[in-house]
Amino acid sequence: MYLCKNILRMKLLENYSLLAYNTFGIDVSTRYFFEYQSSDELVEFLKSNFLNDKSFFSLGGGSNVLFTKAYEGVILHSKIEGYELLQQDETTVYVKVGAGVVWDDFVAFCVSNNWFGVENLSLIPGMVGASPVQNIGAYGVEAKDIVDSVVGVDCCDYTQKTLTNEACCFGYRDSIFKHALKDRFIVTQVVFKLSKKEIYNLEYGTIKEELSKYPTVNLETVRQAIIAIRETKLPDPKKVGNAGSFFKNPVITTEKFKLIQKQYPDMPFYDVSADYKKIPAAWLIEKSGWKGKAYGNAGVHDKQALVLINKGNASGNEVVELSNRICQSVKKLFEIAITPEVIFL
Ligand code: EPU
Repeated sequence: MYLCKNILRMKLLENYSLLAYNTFGIDVSTRYFFEYQSSDELVEFLKSNFLNDKSFFSLGGGSNVLFTKAYEGVILHSKIEGYELLQQDETTVYVKVGAGVVWDDFVAFCVSNNWFGVENLSLIPGMVGASPVQNIGAYGVEAKDIVDSVVGVDCCDYTQKTLTNEACCFGYRDSIFKHALKDRFIVTQVVFKLSKKEIYNLEYGTIKEELSKYPTVNLETVRQAIIAIRETKLPDPKKVGNAGSFFKNPVITTEKFKLIQKQYPDMPFYDVSADYKKIPAAWLIEKSGWKGKAYGNAGVHDKQALVLINKGNASGNEVVELSNRICQSVKKLFEIAITPEVIFL
């Protein structure tokens, strides 16, 4: 009874719309929505047994999910804010950041403090808590390069645990939180290790070209350049619903790559190892004729074929159908299977 009262004091909502909680702008509701301000509140909620055998999903900014129908379980949403400076010396700084902090606010915070390492990840939508789960990445930098450790609650025994970078088993858009700790570990804070030394990552794509438009190279101009590049390719989710890259870039064998390259000498690629190459899914989709095309109210962005968009009132299922059709076309033309990076719920 005591615990029940506490939960009511906390924010448990019923039949709650998720429209404002997914960047695709899909209008669905969740049976229950629970928002917590601290790890203690989350633990208290878990211990109350309200969840019992209900399914649950920990939702950040909703920038990497596609809701295909009303959610029948409990959506857990972190409002854990705040920055805590844990440790620093002349070259390095360790900062602990709440899972509910908006990712790009964190990037801006680092840039304003002259801390290096995260600036290439400017303007990625979503919350800090999702960054290690997805191992977000852009312009030659991934979360794994700056995550020191991840703090969260283990839903099996309701204890708080800290995972080192190594324990997170980071991979390309992948981590232990998508596998062994899926549906089990809820990220509450992330500790980032940033540099006070002036080190930039400017090798990727058109960063240098964009930077040449600015009078000097410093953290602020690198951030501005990254934002400018992103804005030319990626639609603003506040204006056009989308979830960033919809598919992962597939990795194929060098043998297969050489075969396709004979027919398409201009095929872009990244070296993974001697035996494997990564191919931009955007290129495969464009070659398959889908760039700028639509299925119902769902479409393929005309400036970046990897981005699926909500053209207005799209249902989750329309986006799924479009995604299936794209996968089939790419498979037919290239014999390559592309898989969504976005999580379907
Ligand atoms: N390309 C096309 N057609 C297009 C777009 C791109 O052919 O419509 C080709 C071009 O040859 C281009 C290449 O694809 O050079 C790569 O494109 P881009 O640099 O835009 O990157 P991407 O591989 O499509 C990845 C990430 C993005 C990240 C960018 C920049 C994945 C799945 N996506 O996209 O991440 O911002 O690199 O680093 O790895 C996200 O995950 O939501 C995301 C936006």
